[in-house]
Amino acid sequence: MDAPTTPPNPHYDRFGGQDAVQRLVDAFYRAMDELPQARTIRAMHEVDLGPTRQLLTRYLSEWMGGPGLYTPERGAPRLRRRHMPFAIDAAARDAWMACMRQALAETCTDAGLRSELEAAFRRVAEALVNTQAAPAPPAALND
Ligand code: HEM
Repeated sequence: MDAPTTPPNPHYDRFGGQDAVQRLVDAFYRAMDELPQARTIRAMHEVDLGPTRQLLTRYLSEWMGGPGLYTPERGAPRLRRRHMPFAIDAAARDAWMACMRQALAETCTDAGLRSELEAAFRRVAEALVNTQAAPAPPAALND
């Protein structure tokens, strides 16, 4: 199964267009740099977040129903396939969502829109989980 990459999600204008998408992505990666629970997923990314920030901005513009800025440059999103090199377990999904929730809280004042977007992000993040957390070692081994 591939991730649901282009759900009907015409949020772009309500959200505030390109400037707002840019603000969201900036806030998102700021949160990833700052939140302790995001350390593991931050380490999966390049030190320089510039190129990733640009890709996510382009992708979200398209995903929210705005200009198709991602596909012409990168091809079909196929997010599940693109995330396969990274071990994404439930904790990584939750950390990603924590960053996105903080970014939405900072940049989107419309509470209804915010919860719609959170739910839509959550569906994509869930579809990108590709591994289970390593089981905890038996207690005896911790001695
Ligand atoms: C579930 C937790 C997630 C983790 C741990 C994660 C992690 C990553 C990582 C490590 C990269 C590569 C960045 C780099 O090379 O610097 C990446 C790229 C990307 N991610 Fe995620 N991601 C997650 C969820 C999502 C979600 C929910 C979306 C979309 C709503 C998304 C959209 C993207 C896009 C568009 C790219 C760039 C793809 C490309 O190479 O064209 N990610 N992600």
